[in-house]
Amino acid sequence: MNTVLTLIFAIFTVVFGSAPDYGIVPRPARLTPGTGTFRLSADVTIRVSDPGDDELHWLAQYTSGMVRDALGVELRLSDRRAPEGEENAIVLLLETGDAPAGDESYRLAVSARGVVITARTEAGLFYGIQTLRQLLPSSSATRESAWSLAAVEIEDSPRFVYRGMHLDVGRHFFPVSFVKKYIDLLAMYKMNTFHWHLTEDQGWRIEIKQYPRLTEVGAFRRETILEKNFNPYIGDSKPYGGFYTQDEIREVVAYAERRYINVIPEIEMPGHSTAALAAYPELACTEGPFEVSTVWGVTEDIYCPKEETFAFLENVLTEVMELFPSPYIHIGGDEAPKARWEESPIAQEVIRREGLADEQGLQSYFIRRIESFLLAHDRRLIGWDEILEGGLAPQATVMSWRGTAGGIEAARQGHDVIMTPTSHVYFDYYQGEREFEPLAIGGYTPLEKVYDFEPVPDVLTADEAKHVLGAQGNVWTEYMKTTQYVEYMVFPRMLALAEVVWSPKAARDWDRFVSNLPQQLARLDDYRVNYRIPHVTGLERDRITLSGAITVSLATLLSDAAIHYTTDGSDPTERSPRYEVPLRLSVDDDGVTVSARAYLANGRSSTPRSARFARAPLTPAEDLDRAGLSPGLAVAYYEAEFSSVNQLVGPARVREGVATAIGLELAGRDDNFGLAFSGYIEVPESAVYTFFLRSDDGSELSIGDRVLIDHDGYHGATEKSAAIALAAGLHRLSLRYFQAGGAKSLDLTAQKEGDAGRVAISGWLFHRP
Ligand code: ACM
Repeated sequence: MNTVLTLIFAIFTVVFGSAPDYGIVPRPARLTPGTGTFRLSADVTIRVSDPGDDELHWLAQYTSGMVRDALGVELRLSDRRAPEGEENAIVLLLETGDAPAGDESYRLAVSARGVVITARTEAGLFYGIQTLRQLLPSSSATRESAWSLAAVEIEDSPRFVYRGMHLDVGRHFFPVSFVKKYIDLLAMYKMNTFHWHLTEDQGWRIEIKQYPRLTEVGAFRRETILEKNFNPYIGDSKPYGGFYTQDEIREVVAYAERRYINVIPEIEMPGHSTAALAAYPELACTEGPFEVSTVWGVTEDIYCPKEETFAFLENVLTEVMELFPSPYIHIGGDEAPKARWEESPIAQEVIRREGLADEQGLQSYFIRRIESFLLAHDRRLIGWDEILEGGLAPQATVMSWRGTAGGIEAARQGHDVIMTPTSHVYFDYYQGEREFEPLAIGGYTPLEKVYDFEPVPDVLTADEAKHVLGAQGNVWTEYMKTTQYVEYMVFPRMLALAEVVWSPKAARDWDRFVSNLPQQLARLDDYRVNYRIPHVTGLERDRITLSGAITVSLATLLSDAAIHYTTDGSDPTERSPRYEVPLRLSVDDDGVTVSARAYLANGRSSTPRSARFARAPLTPAEDLDRAGLSPGLAVAYYEAEFSSVNQLVGPARVREGVATAIGLELAGRDDNFGLAFSGYIEVPESAVYTFFLRSDDGSELSIGDRVLIDHDGYHGATEKSAAIALAAGLHRLSLRYFQAGGAKSLDLTAQKEGDAGRVAISGWLFHRP
């Protein structure tokens, strides 16, 4: 073999391994390896079935640009009409005769003679071109001016007609250049819909000529709350804002159209409209004034269902429809509290006039009225699943986000559905343990969970299932202040979603997906995408042992990543020891902290993970007679505005009692209270026990004289755990908890080392009466 061939062979072996399918993501429906190779170099031409056709000409240019990016060579576009059997060419054939059925289907054939992509539609050709892109080298693989494509025949078509990605530009605003990059990346993975969330409480982002104050006033906020919405409010004192002019919107829509991506604008109503009310307070039920929101969440100030509001919204939608050719217009509909409508004589009069049952009926009336307007202009309405409440508008399509129940209900009513459940496709949720990740909204949606998503619930009949048009990943940007961070949250999770919505269900294979991730990430490097590198596993929690020896096994999803670790608490670098085999650590009572990062060849690394491993002295049991104790814990109940469990003292103490289990049963109200439990826990055997403390808001667990879990402060429902070696018998236990506002919860469970599951501990609790 000559050197080039040897190199190519080596690269194929390293990058593609023995996989027979070239690692294309999303995985094609059918792929048959052929024999021979086609040498792609500067003398190859690009030919189309009709050189006079503008769109085919554009596709040929696009292909040429793609090859130039990969190989650095400029292929010539031929002006001769291409027949099928063209030699030494990349041929794009638009035809109905021999092309695979389906609006987005294509056939890609590579033989020793050349490359032929055949489809019935330009979109199909475009997807064939995207597959061809994945047969070319990424620049980190090689920078050759010629490349041998292995012969192959691929016949491919999508599983779902709707393959979407959303982007919230209301909470944080992203420039046109980034929106175009986002669209390019969607297109690369055969997504066909961009849901552009353009209006929010925190900012109105689309120029509307008839209502200039929407952007003069509504596109800018005074400042932004630092981090989360917990008391006390601390703002960043930095004015923030931005919007897209109508010219910019047209530019983005045209850019997306050339990439076969439909852009669905979302204009929120009746809720999430504070920015619009700040600009035009007369659209509210109360007087105002209103301020563009500086905090996150759901606000009670929503549009009032007056004629003036409907006229405003119709005028706004008229301009929106001029800008967006999309057959669908998204009108939000989610998270619209009804407090203002309950108090408003105007809203109540509409309920009477229209014979509506209540405020839910009024929301339904609101949405139906907007739907009639859209239908009269040949557009269809999409709304979040709250539009089911009070009755669906006759032809509405439902975006099911609060799980899949709304989607199931809508499909059963014969409505089309797009699945976007928080459980699997909210890309604002954490991808790893939150203490190691940049601040995110909450939740936990690792890559594997996205890959596991099944958009068609199995409770639907075959006919109902036809209403599930597809799925979408949602990207809410409260905590994504930069484009870099958006990329970190979206990639590689979007690749998993792309396979869910494009590939046949039977073709989905997590192990294959994972083994192909390195080559996909190398390709994303070419486009300077700040994707998240999967973290090192094996360091999920601190561990203690009674024996003084412990084995730590580390792993990474990426076969080409090197794990580097330290055992002195420092942050690992590429010069730290490289992990090869499980670490056998001798540990004393001080313990050893293992920290690790996964490094890619490009020098980027995952977020670090660390955990502490220690020998645990056995905590002796109390020398106590159990006969003097009664079941349950003593509990004191407090009422005041707390921000820490350390404030549960003195006059705030309202009453005392006994709790048979750890929970909130003894609370007398929903907000601003605290509970202090005390007594003993009796463990059945001498062993290492891990305790899991889950609370919203703060809590703290002490055993003996030691604070075992400090989970104090304002936070949502999150869990913290810690382990302790306890001798069989009774140990002093104290647990303090406070609730400020919003949701509340408290739970404590335990797991004995070596046991598979956790146990509820209520039977282990005692107090001295
Ligand atoms: C939503 O996440 N509020 C649709």
